[in-house]
Amino acid sequence: MRRARISSLGCYVPPGVLTNDDLSKMVETNDRWIVERTGIRERHIAEAGMATSDMAVKAAQVALERRGIGAGEIDAIIVSTVTPDMQFPATACLVQDRLGAAKAWGFDLSAACSGFLYGLTTAAHLVGGGTHRYVLVIGADTMSRIIDYQDRGTCVLFGDGAGVFLVEAADDGEDAGYIGHLNQIDGSGAPYLCMPAGGSRRPASAETVANRLHYVKQEGNQVFKFAVRKMQEVSEELLARHGFSGSDVKLLIPHQANRRIITATAERLGLAPEQVIINLDKYGNTTAATIPLATRDAVCTGKLNKGDLVLFAAVGAGYTAGAVLWRWG
Ligand code: UT7
Repeated sequence: MRRARISSLGCYVPPGVLTNDDLSKMVETNDRWIVERTGIRERHIAEAGMATSDMAVKAAQVALERRGIGAGEIDAIIVSTVTPDMQFPATACLVQDRLGAAKAWGFDLSAACSGFLYGLTTAAHLVGGGTHRYVLVIGADTMSRIIDYQDRGTCVLFGDGAGVFLVEAADDGEDAGYIGHLNQIDGSGAPYLCMPAGGSRRPASAETVANRLHYVKQEGNQVFKFAVRKMQEVSEELLARHGFSGSDVKLLIPHQANRRIITATAERLGLAPEQVIINLDKYGNTTAATIPLATRDAVCTGKLNKGDLVLFAAVGAGYTAGAVLWRWG
């Protein structure tokens, strides 16, 4: 097995910003409630006509430019998303074409907020197995297209954005890259966070539209409790499996859903506040894009440097959950 490393990073968020005050004019809410209960202050919203592949392409171009390689070098493209441009073809195909990644294959990966980590795990193994040189892992979601802006329980939480890691083989002898992962699904949680209609069980009809079933439905409390418990469980077990504990971790880069979920997880893992990246105040929950967006902030603020042990962790609809351990470099 070769060791996979993250060799480049690119992100894109649309310029439009929706603040808590803006939302308070749309539903019965206020800035204080949103900040206290979630930590979110604003989120970026894609303009009409912009789709998930548009944001994914922009983020991927940044990653490729930073690495100094052309799209023609890419072997595979994984797009983690719950908001594909269309049911089919896969958004990965649209991204491949727009990038001009002539020799790449690829696919969409549906694991909601854990999608980026599932994609990263997959890429680490494609590269680790020696069959792929360059794999693009893309997390991109245009959540504003499936959010009900009449539902105050969900509309305050989500935003739009995209982030990309370029994964390739580490140099021989280099102590950098993928260490391990622990991913899980628990489908008993499916009813608590879902978009009920538009699939094969309840195809689109006048009735599903009238009943607003093409929007995200969430039982927030259920998801909250599961997230706090699971994020700790997968993180702790993964660290122990590799002989580490919380004190060995330089940085926890968690999925950004709710500040209280993140701080509870960090406390349970024995991490100090400076060991945790929280940037949901600026972006809200961008589903598959939160982890690359948070990683970019960690790198840009000098909190993540070569040789650091970084723990990525996420929980999302499905339920899905995952943790990935990485030596940055
Ligand atoms: O990405 C992974 C998926 N999602 C998550 O991880 C989200 C997990 N869940 C959460 O983050 C939290 O459950 C929420 C932020 C969604 C809700 O926070 P909460 O502390 O669980 O509030 P709650 O749902 O228990 O609601 C408390 C009260 C209710 O009023 P009553 O029944 O006590 O009178 C709600 O109606 O707050 C009310 N409420 C609001 N008030 C003002 C709910 N949403 C709002 C709102 N503004 N936006």
